[in-house]
Amino acid sequence: MKVLVWWSSRGTVGKSTGAAHTIGAIAFAKKRVAWIDADPEGSLNRWLERFLKKHPQLRPFISEETDGADYLVIDCPPGDNERARQALQWASLILIPTTVGPTERERFSHLLTTLSQHAPGKLTGLILNQFDPTANEIRRFKAEILQQPNCPPILAAWPHRQAWKTAWTEGKCVWETGWGHKPAAEEWKKFEQAAWQLLGQTGW
Ligand SMILES: Nc1ncnc2c1ncn2[C@@H]1O[C@H](COP(=O)(O)OP(=O)(O)O)[C@@H](O)[C@H]1O
Ligand SMILES: [Mg+2]
Repeated sequence: MKVLVWWSSRGTVGKSTGAAHTIGAIAFAKKRVAWIDADPEGSLNRWLERFLKKHPQLRPFISEETDGADYLVIDCPPGDNERARQALQWASLILIPTTVGPTERERFSHLLTTLSQHAPGKLTGLILNQFDPTANEIRRFKAEILQQPNCPPILAAWPHRQAWKTAWTEGKCVWETGWGHKPAAEEWKKFEQAAWQLLGQTGW
C-alpha cells in the first residue's frame, strides 16, 4: 500500500483540498483508497461525505479500512506535531502544498529542517497553491527557495482560483500551468503523472 501524506507548515494552504482531490482521482481510476483525516479540523471527512453522496458508484473504492487498499491518503494537521511526525514516518510520498508569499519563504527553511529530522530521504513534492499568477512573488519564491539544496521538486502549481481566472482573461498569466482548486481533468492528469513518477522511485 502506498501512503500519500499531505502536510504543510501552516493551515489553509490546501492540504485537505489536495488530499480530497487525490482520493477522488484514485477512486475514479478504480483503485482502492483508504483515508485518515488526522486533522481535528475534520475538513477531509466532510468533503468525502459530500463527495460520496454525489458519486455513490465510487463507494466500493473509498473506505476508512486500510486492509486491501492500494493507497492510503493522510491529511495531516499543520506544523510539527506527533500526528504529523507519525504520518511522515509512514509516508511513501509526502505532498506539501505551499503559498509563495514572504511569510512562506521564512517558514520554509524550518519546514525543510523538520522534514530532514522526521522523514530523512523520503520522497517529497511541493504543490505551489493559491498564488496570484500575475505577481512577481512566484519568481522570487522560485529564486530564493527552490534553489536551496534539498528543496523538493514542484509537482504542480495551482494558482488561486479567482486570481487565475482574472489573469487568464486579461492575458497576464506568468506561470505556465493554471488551475483552480477544482482542477480541470487535464491539469489533474499532469499532477498525477508527476506524483506517480516520483512514487515509482520507491520501487513499490
Ligand atoms: N487554488 C485555490 N484556489 C482557491 N481556493 C483554494 C485553493 N486551494 C484551496 N482553496 C481554499 O482554501 C481553503 C483552505 O484550503 P484547505 O485545503 O482546507 O487548507 P488546509 O487543509 O491546508 O487547511 C478552502 O476553503 C479551499 O477551498
Ligand atoms: Mg485541512
